[in-house]
Amino acid sequence: MGTYRWKAAVVTLSDKGAAGLREDLSGPVLCDMITASGYDVVKKVLLADDFEEIKKCLCQLCDEDKVDVIFTTGGTGLSPRDCTPEATLAVAHRNVPGIAEAMRLSSLKITPRAMLSRAASVVRGQTLIINLPGSPKAVRENLEAILPTLDHGLAILTGRDGECAR
Ligand code: MTE
Repeated sequence: MGTYRWKAAVVTLSDKGAAGLREDLSGPVLCDMITASGYDVVKKVLLADDFEEIKKCLCQLCDEDKVDVIFTTGGTGLSPRDCTPEATLAVAHRNVPGIAEAMRLSSLKITPRAMLSRAASVVRGQTLIINLPGSPKAVRENLEAILPTLDHGLAILTGRDGECAR
């Protein structure tokens, strides 16, 4: 049993946040929750809802920074500017639909509006990318549904089975 901690990146997608018109509260909630679960947050990014910029950022985090997991927050809904799932699917090597399905299933028990999140979950190389909705409440509820199970998926994806702290 080793003590490897998953390298995580947190990416907030918000036009208002990137323009300095709204404080990013969801990114910090995400960071706090995953840090408490034993992840190392090695990159935090705040970007506008721009398809090309999001794609570029995700590719860099996967291919150059080689983080184990990327959590995005925001841009999963039906607003015309929301394009996080499209950018995520555009850089994906493999779809991992069950993670997004599990989040919607558990969130639907809390609010019917959970059906409005188009969040995707995919793999690029050896990085897992998971979209979460934009509000701090939604981040908390969605993460709670998946965090206990991510460890096993990451261990298999990265070949680090047996090395992780938990
Ligand atoms: N999921 C949970 N668990 N709790 C929530 O409050 N909000 C929903 C949904 N998923 C919500 C949720 C709402 S209101 C929307 S519009 C969609 O996520 C998309 O959110 P986004 O556009 O901020 O990404």
